[in-house]
Amino acid sequence: MEILKVNDLNKSFGDLHVLKGISFSMQKGEVLAIIGSSGGGKTTLLRCLTFLETADRGEITVDGDKIVSETEENGKFKCIYPDEENLRKRALKVGLVFQDYNLFPHKTAKENCSLAPINVLKTDKETADAKSVEILKRVGLEDKIDYYPYQLSGGQKQRVAIARALCMNPSLLCFDEPTSALDPELTAEVLKVIKQLKNEGVTMLIVTHEINFARDVADKVIFIDNGVILEEGDAKSVIDNPKNARTKEFLQSIAL
Ligand SMILES: Nc1ncnc2c1ncn2[C@@H]1O[C@H](COP(=O)(O)OP(=O)(O)OP(=O)(O)O)[C@@H](O)[C@H]1O
Ligand SMILES: [Mg+2]
Repeated sequence: MEILKVNDLNKSFGDLHVLKGISFSMQKGEVLAIIGSSGGGKTTLLRCLTFLETADRGEITVDGDKIVSETEENGKFKCIYPDEENLRKRALKVGLVFQDYNLFPHKTAKENCSLAPINVLKTDKETADAKSVEILKRVGLEDKIDYYPYQLSGGQKQRVAIARALCMNPSLLCFDEPTSALDPELTAEVLKVIKQLKNEGVTMLIVTHEINFARDVADKVIFIDNGVILEEGDAKSVIDNPKNARTKEFLQSIAL
């Protein structure tokens, strides 16, 4: 079953054409790793897919719902977005885990997780809290449920952020370099949780520089360079046997 379909996505900031016709799709339960050099447009793509940024051209379909469509007028294409309220509702299907966690500092781990289900999904507090506790346990934080972010390590904060995203039942969970702010030991903790979520069947799109992790956990890898998908395929073949010269160069540069 197709969870995400992106068709010819384009995005410019002023004169800077950042995404130049990105197309790919993801199946339910699939893990996709996006790799590529700095400034290539990976974060911009994630921001478009999580509707924090509006694209200029192209289509985005999530779980069979075409949220962004395209129209043509006198040879000029543009995206059509639903109105704000509708967009916010439909956008809930895509969760995002930020690189720097974005937790509310004055709320505990459990409160951080329950907040959106209570305020946005209108779940009652008791049900929301019970689910938060269950998911915090799933990410190995059973003993930190009532801790505030300042009492947690970076890896623990990142796991709260993952739990918080999961509490909204997303069809697709996106990560933007989830471990880049962490030292190796904490990185391993977070990667272990992501691997476990894969085994539980969570569909995930992960922008990462952790190439070994991508090879190990991702089903598919996409290499984006300068706003274009230059290579795409089975994780092991793209990483171990890149066909494109730029992909080869990139993989060699980060292996150094
Ligand atoms: N809001 C913005 N306004 C103007 N330019 C932007 C904006 N956001 C991103 N850019 C530009 O778009 C390009 C792509 O940036 P993006 O953050 O998507 O790259 P990236 O692949 O995530 O890089 P990195 O690996 O360093 O995180 C960059 O040249 C960046 O300066
Ligand atoms: Mg980025």
